[in-house]
Amino acid sequence: MIVKDTIQQIPFVDLRAQYESIASEIDDAMSSVVQNTAFILGEEVSLFEQEFAEYCQTKFAVGVDSGTSALELALRAFGIGPGDEVITTANTFIATALAISCTGAKPILVDIDPKTYNIDVNKLENAVTAKTRAIIPVHLYGQPADMDPIQEIARQKDLVVIEDACQAHGARYKGRRTGSLGDAAAFSFYPAKNLGAFGDGGMVVTNDEQVAEFVRMFRDVGQREKYHHEIKGYNHRLDTLQAAVLRVKLKYLDEWNAARRQHAEYYNQLFAGSQVLTPFDADYAEHVYHLYVVRVKDRDMLRKKLWDEFGIGTGIHYPIPIHLQDAYRDLGYQRGDFPVTEVYADQILSLPMFAELTRDQIYKVTEEINKLIDK
Ligand SMILES: Cc1ncc(COP(=O)(O)O)c(C=O)c1O
Repeated sequence: MIVKDTIQQIPFVDLRAQYESIASEIDDAMSSVVQNTAFILGEEVSLFEQEFAEYCQTKFAVGVDSGTSALELALRAFGIGPGDEVITTANTFIATALAISCTGAKPILVDIDPKTYNIDVNKLENAVTAKTRAIIPVHLYGQPADMDPIQEIARQKDLVVIEDACQAHGARYKGRRTGSLGDAAAFSFYPAKNLGAFGDGGMVVTNDEQVAEFVRMFRDVGQREKYHHEIKGYNHRLDTLQAAVLRVKLKYLDEWNAARRQHAEYYNQLFAGSQVLTPFDADYAEHVYHLYVVRVKDRDMLRKKLWDEFGIGTGIHYPIPIHLQDAYRDLGYQRGDFPVTEVYADQILSLPMFAELTRDQIYKVTEEINKLIDK
């Protein structure tokens, strides 16, 4: 076995490369917050909220401390809680379901579309019951869910639609930005996201003033005016330092997303004709490739060899579907309930993807995978 230190590693994500490309701007922005010491809900937070709302083509944006909180607070803003059901996809990060559970509502899962890996809109209607209050479509891996049929079902059944856009900053559905497609949307600024902070952060965006006002109060211990607590809120504020970092990065987001799309195209080209199943780019969507996810045989063996022999980092999003997690045994689902999600969980592999990735690195990744797969 080759010792990893002696070979040129290709990380799954390279946060240092991104920082180095804009280091002086970031350092200045952070230093200015440190100098003026407005660490909690300082001016940078409201400026970033305005800029992010404009970017998402929505009227309001409210900064919070994570994507998970953004989902939870958006649900709470619509009064969703105990006794309610909220439908989402079986193939998502656990936080989508946890946010539903945090409100006291019950997550109801739906299998994924075999092509897009997003919620299967043909199976959605069957999941609706008299208790259903909301749908959370997840724009998984950076590709928007097929929102028109989802909205149609929501209209017919009088349901709220909250987009989980935590992986899809800047993606578009039929020309419109994610975040502007439902009644409200949640974004995460976890460091590795397309728009990532230097720690945790999140945002709720909406066109509904009451929703924005509720989230604004709830995130700040239920107050609008200092020490006047109108509701029982909590501390879910976005840090000023994070907002300052995110304001700098937002200016580069479109450029970085364009680079990700180009990388995906190059990967696709180099995998053409191989046994690697590449992502499907739906014609209604502008995918921003938060993750570049392929499907392969013997995934675990391949993943181990890529790392051990070539220092190529990969990920799995996600290895255990929500309904098979111990934490969600109480939902009563069984293996076999969501067959597409279950089969894919054993085959999916996320390859290195970040804006600064080079063509040489992509070439190396595809070359080694194609060789290992053909053996
Ligand atoms: C689809 C999805 N939903 C929710 C979240 C939760 O975001 P956070 O980690 O910021 O709480 C994430 C990100 O990690 C995510 O990928």
